[in-house]
Amino acid sequence: MARGFKTLDDMGEVAGKRVLVREDLNVPMADGQVTDDTRLRATLATVTELADRGAIVLLLAHFGRPKGRPDPTLSLAMMTRPYSQLLGRPVRFVDWDGAAAAVATLRAGDIAVLENTRFFAGEEANDPQVVETMAALGDLYVNDAFSAAHRAHASTEGLAHRLPAFAGRAMEAELDALDKALGAPEHPVAAVVGGAKVSTKLDVLQHLVARVDHLIIGGGMANTFLAARGVAVGKSLAEHNLAGTAEAILQAAERAGCTVHLPYDVVVATEFRANPPTRTVNVHEVGADEMILDVGPAAVEALGDVLKNCRTLVWNGPLGAFETPPFDAATVSLARTAAALTREGGLVSVAGGGDTVAALNQAGVADEFTFVSTAGGAFLEWMEGRALPGVAALSA
Ligand code: 3PG
Repeated sequence: MARGFKTLDDMGEVAGKRVLVREDLNVPMADGQVTDDTRLRATLATVTELADRGAIVLLLAHFGRPKGRPDPTLSLAMMTRPYSQLLGRPVRFVDWDGAAAAVATLRAGDIAVLENTRFFAGEEANDPQVVETMAALGDLYVNDAFSAAHRAHASTEGLAHRLPAFAGRAMEAELDALDKALGAPEHPVAAVVGGAKVSTKLDVLQHLVARVDHLIIGGGMANTFLAARGVAVGKSLAEHNLAGTAEAILQAAERAGCTVHLPYDVVVATEFRANPPTRTVNVHEVGADEMILDVGPAAVEALGDVLKNCRTLVWNGPLGAFETPPFDAATVSLARTAAALTREGGLVSVAGGGDTVAALNQAGVADEFTFVSTAGGAFLEWMEGRALPGVAALSA
């Protein structure tokens, strides 16, 4: 319990015991095929370890947002085959109807996926009756789903109070990495925060300015800050109504000794589509009919120099409109610099959030970061400095 939570190392003998393991199987699927199995792969360490130790492994997970009613299109039955293939072992599917009888037929080392937890009306409300229904199926509880830990649901929070509770291997790795990134990081610390809108990341920015030495703002968010500073951003995506908020964040950063980096050269176009005619200009030269769609090469090079002097990097959100070429250039370039610095051993680099992982994959460097979180919303809430109920319950 040295880190404030118990892990699989603290479980003792599990042979023959029924272990309810909360995983995040909420993966993108198309035509019955999993299109990105990152989250499934993250579960393998815990599930194989417990099965090898002779536990009866019962996976609890949600899929989509069925709103408390069974919805056949969101049944986890369709996950059983891809999951079994990835695991290289048989996986049973257990419906909520008759779950107790089905679980009673399982033997030591068996693995089963239980039906979507959100088919229960009380799952999201953390209803004690739903907690009881789930708890009756298991002897022990493992939460391995950091990416669902911002939800105080029956399967993510309630069960931790009802059964002996442990962090799984993926949860443990997430918590350790996040602690290195913002809990007790080595300074100087840089944060990259990008994405379309300031309004979705206000709390993140406010939390970070007091904790990091360099705050690198990119994406559409940077335009809001530039506009607040009186820069004419043309037709760029910007939340002009948030000028006052952006200015307050800049002032808070200054008080805290945090250097905010906004782009000083940018890539602009008059239309947003793949490979339109572009110009690379100083931020003060954006035309009235132009949009800023990426950070410029001079600014990216300077940002690379900032990272060279940092010991820790936490990254959330792309620097430009990275899904549309060539506006992925700045994100790819800075991600490669961060990966190289990590490889050389000078930088601890932690990234998370849906778009971020996609961007790092596009840059071909996701494997070279110190840690890439599988979480979307949970990573953001963690970056806001909020306690995540699923994590807090493990420490209780
Ligand atoms: C996610 O996809 O980020 C998690 O699985 C949580 O899903 P939710 O936002 O539907 O709670």
